[in-house]
Amino acid sequence: MPSHNKLTAMAYNLLKGKKGIIFGALNSQSIAWKVAQRAVQEGAEIVLTNSPLALRMGELNALAEECNAPVIPADVTSNDDVQNLFTKSMEHFNGGVDFVLHSIGMSINVRKGIPYYENNYEFTHKGFDISALSLHRVLATAMKMDAINEWGSVVALTYIAGQRVFPDYNDMADNKAALESIARNFGYFYGKKNKVRVNTISQSPTLTTAGSGVKGFGGFIDYADKMSPLGNADADQCADYCVSLFSDFTRMVTMQNLFHDGGFSFTGVSQEVMESMGK
Ligand SMILES: NC(=O)c1ccc[n+]([C@@H]2O[C@H](COP(=O)([O-])OP(=O)(O)OC[C@H]3O[C@@H](n4cnc5c(N)ncnc54)[C@H](O)[C@@H]3O)[C@@H](O)[C@H]2O)c1
Repeated sequence: MPSHNKLTAMAYNLLKGKKGIIFGALNSQSIAWKVAQRAVQEGAEIVLTNSPLALRMGELNALAEECNAPVIPADVTSNDDVQNLFTKSMEHFNGGVDFVLHSIGMSINVRKGIPYYENNYEFTHKGFDISALSLHRVLATAMKMDAINEWGSVVALTYIAGQRVFPDYNDMADNKAALESIARNFGYFYGKKNKVRVNTISQSPTLTTAGSGVKGFGGFIDYADKMSPLGNADADQCADYCVSLFSDFTRMVTMQNLFHDGGFSFTGVSQEVMESMGK
């Protein structure tokens, strides 16, 4: 899509002077990877973080170099790691942060191909801790440490399976429903306390490591694309939207689940899908 590429090549200094923490860049396909690049293009300074396991894969260093950003490891299931991340980030920035991207998801049930109705609860607990409760942990730690500046912005990524059934999304559907609920509830308390806003972006299916772990993902991407009047939103477009939510132009938007899906969520059926059914 050349028109879109042209748009992302432009920079508007929307995040000039802002400082942020980006969770979840694993490789160049990751949505967080694109958000990091886009935020820096827009004038932000960032800290990158991921689990020690992901860091051992070694790809994040290339992004860190490109973005001139330190990498601070943190497993989001560990209170100590998250606290250490905020401590080190505040030392690095010499003060609080203005934005946080939560771009984290993992389900062992999905990975092992265990269907929803046979879920292993140990796996379910672990996936819930990583994918949903981690947002609470990040926000609660930041609030305790007063780590997010007034009018700061926190964005977490989610998927429409939090509202509607997509059978192969498995227990991640419950995790996303909880994630969105945590954003809404914490958004109330953090808004009251420090005018910090908290939102989720509900993104189109996107070809990434997490995305392609879901069974039948290729067919599903095509289906969503045909169902969306604008087509699927890609990772670069998601990064643009994240930047707009970190910017001062969206200061009164909070506690929302915002669909970034080319219109998928409100389309009953499309001409293309109807035609494919008739065949
Ligand atoms: N790809 C899609 O189709 C799609 C659609 C909608 C929403 N999302 C969401 O976007 C977010 C980012 O996923 P992605 O598609 O870029 O895939 P990705 O695999 O690149 O990112 C997932 C990240 O979670 C990190 N992570 C896992 N366990 C962790 C832990 N214990 N501590 C810290 N980090 C941990 C991984 O290291 C990885 O960087 C996820 O929340 C995902 O559910 C993805």
